[in-house]
Amino acid sequence: MTMKFFPSHIMLLPLALVLWFLTLPRVARGFESEAEKRAEALLSKMSLQEKIGQLVQKNAEPGLEVLIREGRIGSVLNQADPQAVYQMQKIAVEESRLGIPLLIGRDVIHGFRSIMPIPLGQAASWNVELVEQGAQIAAIEAASQGIRWTFSPMIDVTRDPRWGRIAESFGEDPLLNGAFGAAMVRGYQGGHLSNPSSLAACVKHFAAYGWAEGGRDYNTANIPDTELHDVILPPFRMAIEAGARSIMTAFNEINGIPATGHIPLLRDVLRNDWGFQGVVLSDWQSLSQMVVHGYNPNEKEAAYHAMQATLDMEMVSTAYETYLEELLGEGRISLQQIDEAVKRILILKFELGLFDAPYAHLGEFPGLLHAEHLEVARQLAAESVVLLKNEGVLPLARGVKRVAVIGPLAHAPHEQLGTWVFDGDKNDAITPLHSLTAASIEKSLEIFFHQGLELSRSASITNPEDILADLGRSDMAILFLGEESILSGEAHSLANLDLQGAQEDLVHLVASADIPLVAVIMAGRPLTFEKVEPYMDAILYAWHPGTMAGPAITDLLFGMQSPSGKLPVTFPRHVGQIPMYYNHKNTGKPATHESWVHIDDIPAEAVQYSLGNTSHYLDYGFEPMYPFGYGLSYTFFTFENLRLNRHQFEIGDTILATVTLTNTGEYQGAEVLQLYTRQLFGSRTRPVRELKAFQKVMLKPGESREITLELSTMDLAFFNARNEFVVEPGRFHLWVGNSSSEGLKLEFQITDN
Ligand code: NOJ
Repeated sequence: MTMKFFPSHIMLLPLALVLWFLTLPRVARGFESEAEKRAEALLSKMSLQEKIGQLVQKNAEPGLEVLIREGRIGSVLNQADPQAVYQMQKIAVEESRLGIPLLIGRDVIHGFRSIMPIPLGQAASWNVELVEQGAQIAAIEAASQGIRWTFSPMIDVTRDPRWGRIAESFGEDPLLNGAFGAAMVRGYQGGHLSNPSSLAACVKHFAAYGWAEGGRDYNTANIPDTELHDVILPPFRMAIEAGARSIMTAFNEINGIPATGHIPLLRDVLRNDWGFQGVVLSDWQSLSQMVVHGYNPNEKEAAYHAMQATLDMEMVSTAYETYLEELLGEGRISLQQIDEAVKRILILKFELGLFDAPYAHLGEFPGLLHAEHLEVARQLAAESVVLLKNEGVLPLARGVKRVAVIGPLAHAPHEQLGTWVFDGDKNDAITPLHSLTAASIEKSLEIFFHQGLELSRSASITNPEDILADLGRSDMAILFLGEESILSGEAHSLANLDLQGAQEDLVHLVASADIPLVAVIMAGRPLTFEKVEPYMDAILYAWHPGTMAGPAITDLLFGMQSPSGKLPVTFPRHVGQIPMYYNHKNTGKPATHESWVHIDDIPAEAVQYSLGNTSHYLDYGFEPMYPFGYGLSYTFFTFENLRLNRHQFEIGDTILATVTLTNTGEYQGAEVLQLYTRQLFGSRTRPVRELKAFQKVMLKPGESREITLELSTMDLAFFNARNEFVVEPGRFHLWVGNSSSEGLKLEFQITDN
């Protein structure tokens, strides 16, 4: 009997009907939203000049009024003065021919005026709801000033702490970047974009900006398709699924093609595969920089390429406004391409309600620095702090009566805010010294403060004798180290991650007093401080915590709250180990403690092959200083009785992992349950571990709870040897624990269905 491969004519009929239906415009299919309908109606009235105007974003500077009036600008960034915003908007709405409002954009990255911890710190909280709340507060404050579009969240996965913008990311893991990116999108955009306190989110930077070679900002990203699809792109997908309405392209090139004109990524993956219908915005002059990259011979060609890639709006450079008309005249781009871009921008403006309510009414908002905003900023700052070490000195004992507070970051209101705080004000910042001094009255503490170094990078200690004298009469020292805000952020990459300036000398000076030493480190990235770590009895890693650094850290020092942060990024021991990340491959010769040969143990005239030939450094081994996911608490938790709903699954099934978590210590505290998997074999090798689910749980002393973590078998998909992003059946290990190097372990299988 022959098999019939072709459907009969009867069967073809419904298929043909479906195909015909799909070719109809969305409006005819009845799918069109109100915003789409209004955008289309408006589009039909626009001149070509007005259309191109919508694709233009200008930096706020004097003289824009004429262009706004002529309808030659669609969006303005960097104007946060509500009066000036109002004036611009009024011209657009009341004096331009069609009254199209402006999209007012701003980098509201980790808070507007109430500054939250830097995003890397927020990721260390592992608290998705709290991060969402923080973004919501940022939206309310920014929207009250007339801003309706934020260029956040940044979800560039990075494995390089030398890169200054690691501060703005959620670290090295795709799931963390996706989960926190999605949380921020929800927080900014709220339930309805048309709510006057909502901002449109702009996820950035698409793509691979965090893959800059050598961690040097803007540098080339050479990235294999496997890592692009497995590591870089999934967070963007998650943020888009959470509803992100816009996306920003990256400055870098990816394997030779600048991201801003990257047709395979923007048109093929983002638009066609993912169906993204929101606005695609370039980064600052990244369109004209396609010429500097050596990709396009001139800006006209760059504009052509960006249009083909479906880039909608150009930030600051002028290739679109200068050349689109010409390109259209030459028939190289079509009016339909321009119309589609304009429509996407108009739809966003309609969705934001800007046509109906273009102005912000200050009186309708709770006000900047509202007490509730600051409370969220405090809680987020407290939960972002990671306790890296504690040899019985924290929380501070009641017997401690005289405390030496030392260091360049103890009272540095500007520095504690971190990078990208255009609208933050150091005068709002409560420093640790402020809070410790306030607490000292109630707790009858005596505080002796010395800055020690003028700046974190100063080369010499000021008044070492005075410091020693005060240390001599103190019960303990709290040393505030780290880096100033300017040392991380855009274009602020570092080749050396040790404590800058004379900070190591400061540690030695304080340690010479032989009293307990607590180090609080504030930084925009993981720093390498292994050399001085032995002198520290406790270490709180606080990132740049924002406005409420003082109250948050003081609460932790006194044990009002137990630290619960976990590292969202691996801390290397030495900069030369980079890249060092938890979800690496096994190699054919993985190192073990037994196989690692330390440089000092190599005998004279050793023969190479007598040494353990495994993958490690002779001087720095193979392990990090602190692994991803690590962080201590004042209390203790046990994980017991890990079990799965089944041990064999089919693709599409849900995996439920249940564990009993008990707080066996004396403090109330939160633990972060982390679920990792490893596929043992595949058509491509898989990482030794991958984070697949997590949950933060608060328990009272003695309390025990059963927690079930859930993942879909679809979460185990990867870019396989046939270049498909699919789940491959096979054997898996699964761990649930409290860091990437711990956990109870089980095995399961996925079978072919
Ligand atoms: C350049 C940065 O890369 C981007 O993240 C930012 O949003 C824009 N400038 C606007 O300030």
